[in-house]
Amino acid sequence: MKALILAGGAGTRLRPITHTRAKQLVPVANKPILFYGIEAMVDAGITEIGVIVGDTRAEMMAALGDGSAFGVSITYIPQDEPLGLAHCVLIARDFLGEDDFVMYLGDNLLEQDLAAFVAAFGAARASDSPPDAQILLKQVPDPHRFGIAELDDDGDVVRLVEKPADPPSDLALVGVYLFTPVIHDAVAAIEPSERGELEITDAIQWLIEQGRRVRCELLSGWWIDTGKLTPLLEANRLLLEKLEPRIAGSVDAASVIDGRVEIAEGAQIENSTIRGPVAIGAGTRVVDSFIGPFSAVGAGCEVVHSEIEHSVVMDNSRVVEIPRLEDSLIGTDATVMRSKLKPRALRLMVGDHCHVDVE
Ligand code: DAU
Repeated sequence: MKALILAGGAGTRLRPITHTRAKQLVPVANKPILFYGIEAMVDAGITEIGVIVGDTRAEMMAALGDGSAFGVSITYIPQDEPLGLAHCVLIARDFLGEDDFVMYLGDNLLEQDLAAFVAAFGAARASDSPPDAQILLKQVPDPHRFGIAELDDDGDVVRLVEKPADPPSDLALVGVYLFTPVIHDAVAAIEPSERGELEITDAIQWLIEQGRRVRCELLSGWWIDTGKLTPLLEANRLLLEKLEPRIAGSVDAASVIDGRVEIAEGAQIENSTIRGPVAIGAGTRVVDSFIGPFSAVGAGCEVVHSEIEHSVVMDNSRVVEIPRLEDSLIGTDATVMRSKLKPRALRLMVGDHCHVDVE
């Protein structure tokens, strides 16, 4: 079994952050989103991973390397334009060969591990009616935003539609799919959709129309498609709730650490309160500040005389003299500061390398 991780595409909904970085590499709980996916593959026993890369390929390759840091081998597959999820399968043909594979959308985060999902496919393949695809479904309140499945009485998939105006059910396709090599015939047979993309939902629908069996499983835990600010902060919250408390940096006697808190190596906490769940990255200095629940402050940051809550601050950024920063996403190497003393709460999305001086 191989894996195909989709990490190309354009991240329009997280601008300005995604002007300068891949949306799949935005950190949640101080770890890039994509790393959780790769770790899920490792846990499912998959070590040969193809990664589809687009405009952000250099950043992606710098972050993942050859995969050895994760114990996997990574093959990069460049995609010149985001022509659709099924197009990714088309261009990965040589890498995938005649193997079964998991296709995983690099901006998705799932609570459930994938080992059981992969094992269930293996067991079903050995049955009297072996499936050629297996999808993961989750009930959603807003089905028009997703690929949607319709099931028969036996629970098999009979129809799939991409972002339907009139959804036939509320069962959305979560970004994890299992395929046998028959999918290669499907992606070669379909035509681009109205939005000009080769849709994987159409390819799976083609399998159904050819009499192939498409199995599904219902997802038990949470699932987040992280492409926008609110779900990203929600993912940050959910993952921080599982954080292993760990204090490797230094905390002075005037500081209070409360609850589930990780303070990485070389971080310094001075005269401050850190109320978990919170992650503070390596080498970050927190001085005369309060860092409240569901905040992740990256490595090499400086937080001085400020309050931060329910926010993600990426590496090497500075937050100085800000009375309250909440529900915010601050890019790398950014500065948010205040030169005049007017207390008020800020909600910000600040791109990499930006300097915001609040008057
Ligand atoms: O999140 C689940 C949904 O993902 C499913 O319910 C839909 O059926 C499925 O089509 C997909 O919809 P999205 O509109 O959310 O897909 P998005 O364009 O965000 O792409 C998903 C990932 O795949 C993202 O990491 C970017 C990458 N990608 C996307 C395209 C279109 C590529 O690498 N190449 C591409 O050509």
